Amino acid sequence: MTEDPNLERIRSVFDRSGVALSLADPEQPDCPLLFANHRFEALTGYRASDVEGNNCRFLQAGAREDNLSAREEIRAAIASRAQCQVILKNFRHDGSPFTNLLFLHPVGRGGRYILGSQFEIAENAAEAARSHAGALVGELERIGSVSAKLQM
Ligand code: FNR
Repeated sequence: MTEDPNLERIRSVFDRSGVALSLADPEQPDCPLLFANHRFEALTGYRASDVEGNNCRFLQAGAREDNLSAREEIRAAIASRAQCQVILKNFRHDGSPFTNLLFLHPVGRGGRYILGSQFEIAENAAEAARSHAGALVGELERIGSVSAKLQM
């Protein structure tokens, strides 16, 4: 794994970054995390070495049903190597909940890996954004937009 020069470069960016970053391998069964940086550890309370090798859904714990549409969007984005942004209900290592605005983006040659960036937002901000997106989809449909679909 460490022979891939892409991975070395990605790891060094992760080490210096001021934002939470994680990297997963969609070519391995169940898309395991390859590594996560210190800001990911600070946000989630998990040690990177403890979560590497696992799919990052462990952060959803008992909120799998709450995250149904976000999960669907993520699976579609990963399958087509597209970027996406979704809001997820997640839990830290100590069990405390947080609202995670997750950015996913393919990186590496041909989008070989998926980079994830986790950003905590206030729960009421998530609700306000969802309500805004719902209203906006309605207006787009009334105008006759070809594909009135918005994330969040
Ligand atoms: C994820 N996923 C994820 N999920 C989550 O709840 N919190 C997170 O921080 C992350 N981070 C993350 C990073 C990277 C790089 C990837 C590729 C994915 C999403 C999770 O692993 C999984 O793809 C989704 O839950 C959808 O699949 P399931 O659970 O419906 O099979």
